[in-house]
Amino acid sequence: MLDPEGIQVVAKQSGFSSVESEQVVRTRGLLVTGRAGIVDTLENLISGGQQEDILAATLSAALVDEGDRLVDVGCGTGKLAIAASRLVGAKGSVVGIDATPQMIDLANARSAKEKSGARFRVGVAEHLPLPAGSQDAVTSSYFFHHLPSDLKPLAMREMWRVLKPGGRLIVTDYGRPRSLFGYIASFPMRCDFHEYVRPQLRGELERIIETEGFGPVEFTATFLGYISVLRLIKPYPATTRSVGRSSTNDDPPPGRASMRIEP
Ligand SMILES: C[S@@+](CC[C@H](N)C(=O)[O-])C[C@H]1O[C@@H](n2cnc3c(N)ncnc32)[C@H](O)[C@@H]1O
Repeated sequence: MLDPEGIQVVAKQSGFSSVESEQVVRTRGLLVTGRAGIVDTLENLISGGQQEDILAATLSAALVDEGDRLVDVGCGTGKLAIAASRLVGAKGSVVGIDATPQMIDLANARSAKEKSGARFRVGVAEHLPLPAGSQDAVTSSYFFHHLPSDLKPLAMREMWRVLKPGGRLIVTDYGRPRSLFGYIASFPMRCDFHEYVRPQLRGELERIIETEGFGPVEFTATFLGYISVLRLIKPYPATTRSVGRSSTNDDPPPGRASMRIEP
């Protein structure tokens, strides 16, 4: 359904934590209504049969610990979120957000079948229904190329907002080829794929990260030379240290000390 501004009206939702009930969820992102059941198969084909490996690399980059809180944005049928919920255990929490209601239905069905603790909600990346600084990790795989260019920075800022200091933001998607093989493998994407992909093949996501000032980006894995797993770690706020000062909530937990990046 399109509203007068050409924005897709996704669904009427109730019960979100940070918005009024009965809100209309709207986005200009590409939904997969009508194709929800075959998206995993398509993705697997496009990634040369490596979809499972790509999701595993995305999750591994998120450095998930027991008790962590994680949100997977554009979660699709919920595979990554369900795998993450096994890692965080009963003390943690995993939420999958997707703008296509049929995807959320499929994810809920998968979660029930696998007796997973992951929860799924219809929602949009542009307005995540989560409080600021609430998540240890935010993941997204094959999601950004579903957004028009002007929404990509907005979605990334939202993901950054909900991260705790020391939290990890993982973006797995089509990107600038990192080898000659990547240039060749990405050729079909340049010629015959939808318009939101092509700027990413010219380094759009890396440019957004730089412009937004999110700090150093790590490439933790690359598939087919152009599908990359990017990791950003949210810095802790600068603190004035004095001798004998007791620790504050802004200090990194002991196990995470090695991931601290000074702003
Ligand atoms: C290609 S699928 C990726 C699914 C899954 N992450 C995976 O790797 O298999 C992209 C998903 O992004 C969702 N999407 C599109 N626009 C969105 C938005 N603005 N907010 C949240 N999800 C959105 C679509 O509904 C679709 O399920």
